[in-house]
Amino acid sequence: MSFLSLKRYKLGTLALGAAFLAVIVNRKVDRAGVYRTVSPLNNDDCFNVPGLEACEDARWVDQESGLAYLACSSQEARMNWVPATLHLNASQLPTVSTDYIALFDINTRKHKRVELQGLPPAANGIWVHAIEVYRSPSSPSNLTLFVNSHRPPADRSLAPTQGADSVVEIFETEVGSNSARWVKTVRHPLVRTPNSVAAVNERQFYVSNDHRHKVHWTRKWEVLKSVPSDIIFCDASGPGDAQCMVAADQVVYPNGNGPNGLVYQASTIEGLMRVWQAQPNHTLTPVEEVHINRHFDNVHVNAATGDIFLTALTKLFDFMAAGKDGGRSGIPPAVEVFRVREDKKKSGGKRYTSERVFGDSGEVVMGSTAAAPYQDKLLLTGLFSPHVVVCTLKQ
Ligand SMILES: *[C@@H]1O[C@H](CO)[C@@H](O)[C@H](O)[C@H]1NC(C)=O
Ligand SMILES: *[C@@H]1O[C@H](CO)[C@@H](O)[C@H](O)[C@H]1NC(C)=O
Ligand SMILES: *[C@@H]1O[C@H](CO)[C@@H](O)[C@H](O)[C@H]1NC(C)=O
Repeated sequence: MSFLSLKRYKLGTLALGAAFLAVIVNRKVDRAGVYRTVSPLNNDDCFNVPGLEACEDARWVDQESGLAYLACSSQEARMNWVPATLHLNASQLPTVSTDYIALFDINTRKHKRVELQGLPPAANGIWVHAIEVYRSPSSPSNLTLFVNSHRPPADRSLAPTQGADSVVEIFETEVGSNSARWVKTVRHPLVRTPNSVAAVNERQFYVSNDHRHKVHWTRKWEVLKSVPSDIIFCDASGPGDAQCMVAADQVVYPNGNGPNGLVYQASTIEGLMRVWQAQPNHTLTPVEEVHINRHFDNVHVNAATGDIFLTALTKLFDFMAAGKDGGRSGIPPAVEVFRVREDKKKSGGKRYTSERVFGDSGEVVMGSTAAAPYQDKLLLTGLFSPHVVVCTLKQ
């Protein structure tokens, strides 16, 4: 090979490499919705619920009572403190958190704060993200609430370098009660960056770690290349500390988890929802991947129909930009929701199909991170949204 042809070869490789990179970047840009126009769908029969600010997640008790539990904060707190998006300005937070669990009644459209009893003073309240509600089949008026709480470190100046001191708090309450009793704090080295909890029973749950590391330089580049993380199983039924184990490893940005023997997990980066089967030893075995070219946040299941609802951060960069000041300025991020259904008659092959069921450009509802189904409605809540919105699906 002459020098010249060697040089040409190298240039050729470079050009190929650049073309390859361009294809990858193009795909990422496409998934992130940079050029996406979100067409309206089912966004013309909605009402706002003022006062429920910055609620990242919500869970209905059931499909009859019309009561939902929400994990709420304030736009101001979200500006300073969202460990999942590296908002780690803990020195700006109040000593005791102002975050709370809200109870919302869709029939009266009223809501109230649930008083938390018995939480250890060292917790300084709850620092909310997602919420999970488990209803005991044998005593259906009893509920267990699971809340992942991102406590700031005791020395708050260390937050930017150490991240949050994250735990999962477990409370018990009765349906509709004004208060909930603290049961236990699950603190475990495997529960690093808890994002979403899926309860198995009153004391056992799966929880996704959205990131491998609490803080790490790679996190700034995660949209391009993300370090896979994991899903953890915890058992808090014993008298002492909870026992936790890795249930599924090497999972890219696992976000929402749904219930029942099957665990549904959306990826915020990969453009898919994964169906997992829980094994008797609590590990998770992958069953199917449902590919949808979006960045997803929470997963919600309508327990009556089995329909799965995925909330897409459909214009990702608008969402990230709006998050910078807790959603108080800038372009309101558009919202899309997808419904996934299982074809139970099908054996083998692809059993799940998806369909877009909600779209709004950010005018009716902005920055939703969860869409909790209630009958023919969606309760749309957002990490830094100014209020909650309920919309009726007509088609
Ligand atoms: C934390 O917040 C203060 C007050 O808003 C601001 O001056 C400072 O730059 C912020 N620090 C970081 C690391 O964002
Ligand atoms: C349900 O809650 C009540 C009131 O707190 C309690 O006395 C009862 O033991 C609970 N039942 C179960 C099955 O946990
Ligand atoms: C758990 O069970 C699965 C399937 O039954 C098996 O493949 C796996 O090796 C088991 N894992 C552990 C840690 O026991």
